[in-house]
Order: sequence, then structure tokens, then C-alpha cells
Amino acid sequence: MDFEFDFDRESPFQPGIPVSPDKFRGRQETIKKILRYVNPAINGKTQHFFLTGKRRMGKTSVADFVKDFVGYKKNMIGVYVSNKGNNSIEILTTWIIEALINELPQKSGVERLKDWFGDHIESIEIKGTKIKFKVDDELTRSFKDYFQDYINEIYDEIKEETEGILIIIDDINGLSDSREFADWYKKLADTLAVNNNYSLPVYFLLAGYPEKFNALVAYEESFGSIFHHDFIDCLSDDEVIDFFKDTFNQVGMEISKDALETMVAFSSGLPLMMQQIGESVFWACENSMITNENAIQGVINASYEIGSKQIRPILNQLKSENYEQILQFLVENKMQTFKRSDVKDSMEITDNVLSKFLSKMVELGILESTGHKNSGTYEFSNNLYYTYFWIKSFEKSQSEE
Ligand SMILES: Nc1ncnc2c1ncn2[C@@H]1O[C@H](COP(=O)(O)OP(=O)(O)O)[C@@H](O)[C@H]1O
Ligand SMILES: [Mg+2]
Repeated sequence: MDFEFDFDRESPFQPGIPVSPDKFRGRQETIKKILRYVNPAINGKTQHFFLTGKRRMGKTSVADFVKDFVGYKKNMIGVYVSNKGNNSIEILTTWIIEALINELPQKSGVERLKDWFGDHIESIEIKGTKIKFKVDDELTRSFKDYFQDYINEIYDEIKEETEGILIIIDDINGLSDSREFADWYKKLADTLAVNNNYSLPVYFLLAGYPEKFNALVAYEESFGSIFHHDFIDCLSDDEVIDFFKDTFNQVGMEISKDALETMVAFSSGLPLMMQQIGESVFWACENSMITNENAIQGVINASYEIGSKQIRPILNQLKSENYEQILQFLVENKMQTFKRSDVKDSMEITDNVLSKFLSKMVELGILESTGHKNSGTYEFSNNLYYTYFWIKSFEKSQSEE
């Protein structure tokens, strides 16, 4: 067997991890909207932006791109904090302060830590180039209560070297379930806005699910007015085309017209699907010209990859085989949005089974009910599932040919 060929190749695709800024494509409008508020932030008017989008829609990728961009265009320092799994404000503020301290030269970072926090420090660890520290509860509480003062102090240390600071708080989700967070954030934003003691060139960029942002606004009406906001949805076909052309060109590969059409169609504008299809097509094509056969093979392989990592683990929890058949049926009949009664009429299925199916799908986040309450209208809330079943039925039709 000749392994040499695969051995020498490296795929330019990145399914499953935020895309690196040089391979980031599309999202022009969103990026422009975020960048609009960079100058006011640099001029000392703290800004707040909330970016929403469903899972895997590309929020982290946008945030990372912006961080990179303002770093080299505006000489801003950017820190990224993932709030995944956390629902404590104390912990979040500690993480942000830790990230900022890591922007100081390492030696002075450690010295500053000792000066500032003295006896409250329980431990300081240096991991590679990163400083990690633990402080006592009293100080953690004060991080939360006087957050703006800590940022101010750290900013004083770095202001010679930078125009401003971008603070990204990603996956805010867990925290946003509490009124406490809405109140805390509102107070922080108000303090920074009205108090003349602060003229902080800071830009906060938060990212999370749309329903979480809505819940926060519902708790605290004025929460919405603190933030600039944008919602990211599927990429347009043109954005997907640019992505495939540019990324394959970077490694010297060309795409035939029909292959490009196949890849774009099955990507369905989903960034993760697009990355996985790119990856699978890359390995399915063993020369520099991608044919439609390569594209079809890649699309099918991609559905297995996405299936085994993102979809099967969830579907395998279903006790009833029937449920998967119903999903398949919906997709084959192009019922991305559907009325309960339409399914009832076209499938031989009892009311009871249908009710159980729908509530299970909503629970798993595969379907959601839309329209007014009791409208009986549902849609695929996670289009990865829709596309997965679509490729499955496409695969079946291919093997029947
Ligand atoms: N603009 C983009 N260009 C290329 N790939 C993208 C883009 N946005 C997202 N992706 C890809 O889509 C997948 C999900 O992106 P990610 O940023 O992790 O989404 P989220 O943070 O919303 O869950 C990743 O594999 C990433 O590489
Ligand atoms: Mg993310």
C-alpha cells in the first residue's frame, strides 16, 4: 500500500474548530457593524456588542477574526474568555482579570499580582507563557463588585502599548439564565457611561444563543439598549462559493463547475457542514482537479463524519426507531417547516405517537415550535439535522441508480 500520497498532504479545512482568521470568509455586514464601534471605544466611550447565533453558526470565528483584525489595524489588545459551563459572575470576572494580567510582560505580571492582591493570593502558577492564579473568596467578590476599577488599574499598566482593549466573552449562555447577571452588567455599563473617573477605551463583545439574549432583555428591559446587536444566520451561497474557491486555491486545487454546485448545495449555508464537506472532498480528490464524483463522494463522507460526531450520539438516545423514520420522512418531503396536521395526514401515525415524537424532538433541540402558541407549526431548529437526512436520502438515491 502506498501511504506516501496522503502523508504529504495537509488539509486547509477546519471542521469543528473556529476558523483561523486567514481562512475566515463572508460575514462582511456583521464585521462592519462590529467595527463601527471601535473608534468610539478607543476614544474612551466603552462599547458593548452582543453577537447572537445558533450553535455552530460561527460566533467564535467572528469574534476571533475581529480580535485579530483590531489587533493589527488598531493596535488593540484583545482577550478572549470562554464562559462555557460557567454560571458565576465571580468566576467570569476572575477569568477576565486573569486574561488581562496575561497581557502584561510575564515578569511584571507576577510582580503586579503580588503588589495588587498580596495576601489574598492562594497560588500563582506559570504554565508555559501563561500565568494562572487563585485568590481567596473575599477578593473574588471584590472582582465582581469593583470590576471596572480592576480593569482601569490594569489598563493603566498597558496604556503606553495599546490603543484600547477588546474583551470577548464567548458562550455567555449559562450566565444569562439569571436576573443577577442582567442587573450586574447593567450596573457595570451605567457606571462606565456616567462616571467621569473612567475613560476606558474598552470594547466588550459578548456572544451567545439568540434565546439567551432575549431572556436577558426580558429580565431587564434596558439591557437591550446597552448593546449593539447582530444575529448571524446561515451563510449565503455566494459566501460559500468564495470560501471553497479560495480555500482550495490556497492548496493549488481547482473545482469543476458541477462539483462546486454540489458542494454548495449540500453545505446549506451551514459553516460547519461547509468545513466538513471541504475536508472530505479534499481527501476524496487525489489530484488537483475536483470532479463532481469527488464532490459527491466527499458530501457523503462528510455526512458520516458529522453524523458520528454531532448527530448519531443524540439520535441513538431515541428509544423508538420510528422517530428517525419520521425525521427522514419530513426531510424527503421537504418539510423543513411543517404543520402537525400535514404530518398526520401524510403518514399513517397516531396522534399519540406524533405528540411524543414532537415533544422529544423539541427537548433534543432538533425541532422547535414556531408561530403563535398552539399554532401546531414546527421547524427544524438545527439545520444540521435537516441536511444530514437530506444527504442520507441523496446517498440512497445514488446507490439505487
Ligand atoms: N466565516 C467562516 N468562514 C469559514 N468557516 C467558518 C466561518 N464561521 C464558522 N466557520 C466554521 O464553522 C464551524 C463552527 O464555527 P464556530 O465559530 O465554532 O461556531 P459557534 O461559535 O457559533 O458555535 C467551525 O468548524 C468553523 O471553522
Ligand atoms: Mg463558539
